[in-house]
Amino acid sequence: MNPASDHPDFWNSRYVAGTTPWDFGGIPPALADFLVRHPGRGERVLVPGCGFGYEVAAFAAAGYDVTALDFSPPAVARARAKVGPDLAPRIVGGDFFTHPLPAAAFDLVYERTFLCALPTARWPEVAARTAALMRPGSRLVGLYFFGAKDDGPPHGLDPGEPERLFGPAFVLEHDAPVPAAASQPLFAGRERWQERRFRPL
Ligand SMILES: C[S@@+](CC[C@H](N)C(=O)[O-])C[C@H]1O[C@@H](n2cnc3c(N)ncnc32)[C@H](O)[C@@H]1O
Repeated sequence: MNPASDHPDFWNSRYVAGTTPWDFGGIPPALADFLVRHPGRGERVLVPGCGFGYEVAAFAAAGYDVTALDFSPPAVARARAKVGPDLAPRIVGGDFFTHPLPAAAFDLVYERTFLCALPTARWPEVAARTAALMRPGSRLVGLYFFGAKDDGPPHGLDPGEPERLFGPAFVLEHDAPVPAAASQPLFAGRERWQERRFRPL
C-alpha cells in the first residue's frame, strides 16, 4: 500500500524520482514582495515542510533569523547543499508535529504548499501546532491553495475555510490573488497570498 502524504516515504520517493511538480525553483514573487515591504531585524521565522528550502536564503538575506524544517531526508540534503555551509544548520530534519521546536517563539511562520500537502484530517493539528509555536503578535503568511480537496495532494481549501481552521486568534490582514503566471501549473489561478496576525484571545 502506498504511504499517505503525512508519512515521509510519500515524499522521499517523489524527491528521489525527481517528481516534484510543486517545486517553484526559487522564491515566489509574493514572498519577494513581502520581504521588500517587511525587512527583518532578527525576527525568528519558521518554514514548515520547506522542501528544497529556497526561502531560507531569502529570509536570511532580508534580515530574519530563519529555521526551516522538513521530515524528508532527500529534501533536507538538497536544501542544505543549495544554501551552503553557513545556512545549512538552519535546515532541520524533523517532523513538524513532534520535533522539539521552542513554544511561542516564532515571529513569523511561512506557508507554501505545506498545508495542502497533508491529508485534510491533519489540518486541525497543523493549525494547533502553528498557534503553539507562534509568539502573540506574530504573523502567519504565505501562499494558500484554494481548489478541490479530492485526488490530492494538493488538497484545496474552500473559501472561508482558513478562518474556520485557524480560528479567531488569526486575524486576516492581507489577502491577494496570485497571478497564474506566478504559480506552478499545479496551483495556477488557485493560489492566494494571505497574511494573518496571531492575536490569541
Ligand atoms: C508539497 S512539498 C512543499 C515543499 C516546499 N514547501 C515548497 O514550497 O516547495 C511538502 C513538503 O512537506 C514536507 N512534510 C510533510 N509533512 C511534514 C511533517 N509532518 N513535518 C515536516 N515536513 C513535512 C514534505 O516532506 C515535503 O517536502
